[in-house]
Amino acid sequence: MTAALHARDLSLALGARHILEGVDLAVDPGQRIGLVGPNGVGKSTLLRIVAGQLQPDRGVVTLAPANGNVGYLPQEPERADETVREHLERRTGVAAASAALDATTAAMAAGDPEAGDAYSDALDRWLALGAADFDSRIAEVWADLGLPERLLDERLPVLSGGEAARVGLAALFLARFDVFLLDEPTNDLDLDTLRALEDFLDDWPGIVVAVSHDRSFLDRVTDELLALDGRGGADWVRGGVAAWLAAHQAAAPSAQTVRTAAAVATAKPAAVVAASPSTLRRRMGEAERALAAASKQRDVLINELGDALDHREMHALGERLSVTQAAVDAAEETWLALAAEAEAAGIEL
Ligand SMILES: Nc1ncnc2c1ncn2[C@@H]1O[C@H](COP(=O)(O)OP(=O)(O)OP(=O)(O)O)[C@@H](O)[C@H]1O
Ligand SMILES: [Mg+2]
Repeated sequence: MTAALHARDLSLALGARHILEGVDLAVDPGQRIGLVGPNGVGKSTLLRIVAGQLQPDRGVVTLAPANGNVGYLPQEPERADETVREHLERRTGVAAASAALDATTAAMAAGDPEAGDAYSDALDRWLALGAADFDSRIAEVWADLGLPERLLDERLPVLSGGEAARVGLAALFLARFDVFLLDEPTNDLDLDTLRALEDFLDDWPGIVVAVSHDRSFLDRVTDELLALDGRGGADWVRGGVAAWLAAHQAAAPSAQTVRTAAAVATAKPAAVVAASPSTLRRRMGEAERALAAASKQRDVLINELGDALDHREMHALGERLSVTQAAVDAAEETWLALAAEAEAAGIEL
């Protein structure tokens, strides 16, 4: 894995807004970059341009060597109307390689004199993509991600959010990519799957560019942090995640106070823009977990208060209870505000 990635002068305006304005990005082989910035600033847009999914107004993205494979994990899991197995075969390139191998085999059988070379190229590609042992590799990845076997024959649109997120990761684990572009990969993941992703990335030698709000994920997986500034530019953040967090905490929204995990600031930029559906879902999930944790703590305190024997102990417990109750109220308020924001934006949760 020696691929390097270069983006030069990337610029894109959407409507009147200059989302990106002359962004340069040079990523060396094996370099791991976290991409941060407030909601709606253009992180997904930058990643989609680098992944070749979106055409910039100006600028170019080059991969060296040019035939390297880029694996892109979108912020919203894919929902094409295909089975999970078909999805894995398509996303990993195994489907196309198998079709090419079948076609060249048929041409050889038909006596086409040129078919030999084409067959040999198709076979090389089929082997290089790991198609020969694809089924046994699926079984391994399925076990790592705790996915049930029956899921392979399900169609993507019927999967739950958590299942779809894990299937997206499975495709990454199974493919032979040189570069990973990951857009909020920890959204919708339970803790075990999050660990499986982090473990996988630990041993993976290629380039990683990951958009994330999850501080511990960024700390563990990335070496450098690039922040979009909301004016179309991108700057390296000296001091990494901790420095970024310190600089942005003051501007963070109230949801910040109820986060269970320390998350990277998600304050909106001056030109207020709507959070994406998956950002809203993530923040609601965080508020729900904070609410559950605070409610549980409150119940424990109420029990302890019932068992308290002396006045001083009761007083101390009472104080802790009022703080915990305030946390419950704040989490509830945050959740309701996010639900209202989602409803106003017509987002199904
Ligand atoms: N097709 C489009 N037409 C017009 N504006 C768009 C379009 N797609 C995205 N935008 C806007 O472009 C801006 C950048 O969006 P983008 O999804 O890249 O932000 P982001 O930083 O990934 O946000 P989040 O943290 O919520 O995922 C947002 O203001 C968004 O509303
Ligand atoms: Mg995004």
